[in-house]
Amino acid sequence: MSTRFPREFLWGGATAANQVEGAYDEAGKGLSIVDTLPGGKARLAIVASESFDFSLDTARYTYPNHKGIDHYHRFKEDIALFAEMGFKCYRFSIAWTRIYPNGVEQTPNEAGLAHYDAVIDTCLAHGIEPVITLSHYEMPLHLATVYGGWKNRALVGFFERFSRTVLERFGHKVKYWMTFNEINSAAHFPIMSQGLVVKTDARDAQAKFQAWHHQFVASSLATKIAREVNPNIQMGCMIIYATTYAYDSNPVNQLAAMQRTQSFNFYCADVQANGKYPYYAPRLWDSLGVTLAIEPCDLELLANNTVDYIGFSYYMLTTVNETHAEGEDTEGNLLGGTRNPFLEASEWGWEIDPTGLRIALNQLYDRYGKPLFVVENGLGAIDKPDSNLYVADDYRINYLRQHIEAMADAIADGVTLMGYTPWGCIDLVSMSTGEMSKRYGFIYVDLDDTLSGSGDRHKKKSFSWYQKVIATHGEDLAL
Ligand code: BG6
Repeated sequence: MSTRFPREFLWGGATAANQVEGAYDEAGKGLSIVDTLPGGKARLAIVASESFDFSLDTARYTYPNHKGIDHYHRFKEDIALFAEMGFKCYRFSIAWTRIYPNGVEQTPNEAGLAHYDAVIDTCLAHGIEPVITLSHYEMPLHLATVYGGWKNRALVGFFERFSRTVLERFGHKVKYWMTFNEINSAAHFPIMSQGLVVKTDARDAQAKFQAWHHQFVASSLATKIAREVNPNIQMGCMIIYATTYAYDSNPVNQLAAMQRTQSFNFYCADVQANGKYPYYAPRLWDSLGVTLAIEPCDLELLANNTVDYIGFSYYMLTTVNETHAEGEDTEGNLLGGTRNPFLEASEWGWEIDPTGLRIALNQLYDRYGKPLFVVENGLGAIDKPDSNLYVADDYRINYLRQHIEAMADAIADGVTLMGYTPWGCIDLVSMSTGEMSKRYGFIYVDLDDTLSGSGDRHKKKSFSWYQKVIATHGEDLAL
């Protein structure tokens, strides 16, 4: 029987070290920037405030990433559950701080490497392909506090050492990699991927763009190393894609939507996939007063080490309304814009738009002609378990089904799509709010926002649904 999704399609799920592992100070791990982020809805506002300097204030705040869901100790149980769902791949990240606790050491921490050996081997034993993000919203705290984050060129060398270590160690058994998670997110929250806070110029476009340049160089170096280690490795970039609409047919809004698409959605991927800065970059830099420091070999390095595929997250769209003739600002839509009157939003105000995913897939494929990989997507929702801790999450199933339909449509449009790894396949600590109650998983983790609870895992209704989706190669999406 022919199916809409190819047989080799990588069905799976995604997590990130800092949001699941916990064990934040075990086995030689150093402090990461995420270990200093307080839990709660004010998280992003606190870290974007002038006073935030990465200090821990345990009298005032909780730090949920310290404990996560204890995946560090329970990964075997978790991966066995993923295997039961039929996962073909598992996307996770390596905590840089487990390998180089402060980022500057000359030799790696063997205990950290051994841990990821065990995680990878567990996946492989279940027939699950690991898909590894080298840097997912964390870096050694030392590199942010002492070096000022990615705006400092020294980080290129530190990241190169980290990448070489893990690629040489794991590159013979792991085919799929990505460099920086949501690299373009620094436009909105530069602390996460660039380690910049207000005191270290987070509000300064010069710092952000220079940091991006260093990350592009570092990403190219990692890609180069990967190919030397194992020519079969597939290295991807990873961006947030927020399909961008003009609020109306006013050409002013149309132009603004186009420019927003370029400067936010495409800017980083243009460099990482095409190997050069895009034609619109000089004008963009001028408008922001940015002058990049580019070293002699940088452009050649970028040109020669482009990525093999485009990984992206897709959660929400952006609607641009420059004229402000009508319309109201979105509340909660992490990436801003005007509320789209045609769409519903999640409980956190993230607007839901499966059609936008089909558009995103077409726009990205049209631009780069490289295979695409939807490495994050999902619905953060409040689950209400019954007395047996069973969650009937029909709302999540409906969300995922609509997005899978959109992917099937994009494949029928002619797009090459490698796989789909819904975010937080097991409940985890939210990035933007540090909450446990914002759940994405197929697996319920019995922990509340204070991380009290047994921590035990329970299959939700979506667990058996996704199992069936994978077993039927995406054909049977019924409840
Ligand atoms: C992406 C990140 O932006 O969105 C993840 O790569 C994050 O780290 C996910 O968890 C969902 O966001 P949130 O804020 O709901 O956790």
